[in-house]
Amino acid sequence: MVILRGRKIKKVFGKKSNTQEVLKDIDIEVREGEFVGIMGPSGSGKTTLLNVLASIDKVTSGIIEINNNNLQKMKEQKLSKFRREQLGFIFQDYNLLDTLTVKENIYLPLSVGKTSKSEGEDKIREITALLGIEDILNKYPNEISGGQKQRTSAARALVGNPSIVFADEPTGALDSKSATALLSNLEKINKEKKVTIMMVTHDSVAASFCSRVLFLKDGQIYSELYKGDKDRKQFFQEIMNTQGVLSGDGYDA
Ligand SMILES: Nc1ncnc2c1ncn2[C@@H]1O[C@H](COP(=O)(O)OP(=O)(O)OP(=O)(O)O)[C@@H](O)[C@H]1O
Ligand SMILES: [Mg+2]
Repeated sequence: MVILRGRKIKKVFGKKSNTQEVLKDIDIEVREGEFVGIMGPSGSGKTTLLNVLASIDKVTSGIIEINNNNLQKMKEQKLSKFRREQLGFIFQDYNLLDTLTVKENIYLPLSVGKTSKSEGEDKIREITALLGIEDILNKYPNEISGGQKQRTSAARALVGNPSIVFADEPTGALDSKSATALLSNLEKINKEKKVTIMMVTHDSVAASFCSRVLFLKDGQIYSELYKGDKDRKQFFQEIMNTQGVLSGDGYDA
């Protein structure tokens, strides 16, 4: 089943003579349960694409549907409810609230919904066990490592069983060991819980955890790779090769 569909997505920044077309008629389809990586040079529009798909930003023209909901047709109030109930977000800088404990941070998406206390406790137990952070629930963000912060942020994104999780450079601030731990967890949760994930990354190792990788260049999808039956090392090599082709005009990998 196609869970996300984008047709002729265009995004133009600026006004009058000073405009920049960052996304040029992008068509994209994501199927339920995919783990899609988005790569491309700095400034190629990765964050912009993720933000319009996730309804954080508006398209200039084009159509985006998630779970058969047309985002452009929704009013702001309905859209924010939709975001809260169906989407999860993981950002490079974690976006945790410092005055709340790890557990309270993870609880946030549930506190506005109709989840009962015991149901919420069950969900938190399950997701924190999957992410290996069940021992730090009563700590505050300033008492845990970057890797633990990002796994907390991932738990918060996943606890409400979203249709799609959007992650923008989730490993960008992590050392390679913490990055691998987070990505293995995301890969496992993607496979076991069939959660659809879209992740922007400039790191080929991170991208090799995905089931498909899209390459953006000059506002268009330049190429895509499927992992298929390949193992992570083989897929990594293939991603590196595609980047090599792109590096002709200054790929920043
Ligand atoms: N709010 C904005 N107003 C004007 N221009 C913007 C805005 N956001 C992004 N841009 C421009 O759009 C282009 C794409 O930016 P974007 O942040 O999507 O790139 P990116 O691929 O995520 O880059 P990076 O790898 O550095 O994060 C850039 O040239 C940027 O300057
Ligand atoms: Mg970016």
